[in-house]
Amino acid sequence: MRISLEDVWHVYSPGTAFETVALRGVSLSVEPGEVLGIVGGTGSGKSTLAAHLNLLLRPTSGRVLVDGRDALALRKSELRRRVGLVFQFPEQALFAPSVEEDVAFAPRQMGLGPEAVEERTAAALGVLGIAHLARRPTRALSGGEQRRAAIAGTLAMRPQVLVLDEPTAGLDPFSRRELLGVVRRLREEGTSVVLVSHDLDEVAEVSDRLCVMEGGAVRAEGTPEEVFYGELALAPTTVRVAARVRESAPGLGRPVSYDETLRSLRALIGG
Ligand SMILES: Nc1ncnc2c1ncn2[C@@H]1O[C@H](COP(=O)(O)OP(=O)(O)OP(=O)(O)O)[C@@H](O)[C@H]1O
Ligand SMILES: [Mg+2]
Repeated sequence: MRISLEDVWHVYSPGTAFETVALRGVSLSVEPGEVLGIVGGTGSGKSTLAAHLNLLLRPTSGRVLVDGRDALALRKSELRRRVGLVFQFPEQALFAPSVEEDVAFAPRQMGLGPEAVEERTAAALGVLGIAHLARRPTRALSGGEQRRAAIAGTLAMRPQVLVLDEPTAGLDPFSRRELLGVVRRLREEGTSVVLVSHDLDEVAEVSDRLCVMEGGAVRAEGTPEEVFYGELALAPTTVRVAARVRESAPGLGRPVSYDETLRSLRALIGG
């Protein structure tokens, strides 16, 4: 499924002293089966943008299209099922007494039978690597485990597009790697993922395409290579280093992730 935003504006609290224009004419699409990274500074509109992908927030003006049809014409429940949105710090919303009950909540709400609910719950726990925690009280988990339980709850709906708002914020490097592995795995299975992140290295590693937000507008968009080498100010440090080395050694190519940069540098030295 393909989601397109067409000239979307979003104004919070219009007509009040708190009026904020959070999106200023954003046009963007999420293509089937891709990982789209959304980066940008604090307050640049990333979370506001993410919340428009399943119409949790409605555009003040502009349109959201799902496979070419106006998303407003779809049933809300249908849209929320197909586009799973995981908020920033989703663990704050865990509520059921145990992990498995929390994860089972959404598929049960969809009206699935007990067997299907169980199967989806087990599968989602497995993907997130927390099957062994199924019976635990959600309060008796580490922060990273809680984060994974919360993501599993949305994944159990089997959305076609999974939107993750800062899923690795506050996690240790090991948990981060594991979560990025989950993103890769979902993509391999055909789920589109929208990954909102502050961390350029992280998005460079898993994204097919990037969208850089600034002041509520799209500052740059394209493959990580196009975006980073198009404007080095938007690139992570590793890419800036690679770009400098490239000046005297064009054979380095245009690596975008940390690992790719390392491999390219090694090959260069070796050769
Ligand atoms: N509920 C709200 N009411 C009013 N203004 C809001 C609300 N939520 C966000 N804003 C404002 O809208 C702008 C964009 O906020 P948004 O949360 O989309 O940014 P963000 O890029 O996700 O930032 P961060 O990286 O800090 O999560 C900011 O100026 C913010 O203050
Ligand atoms: Mg945010």
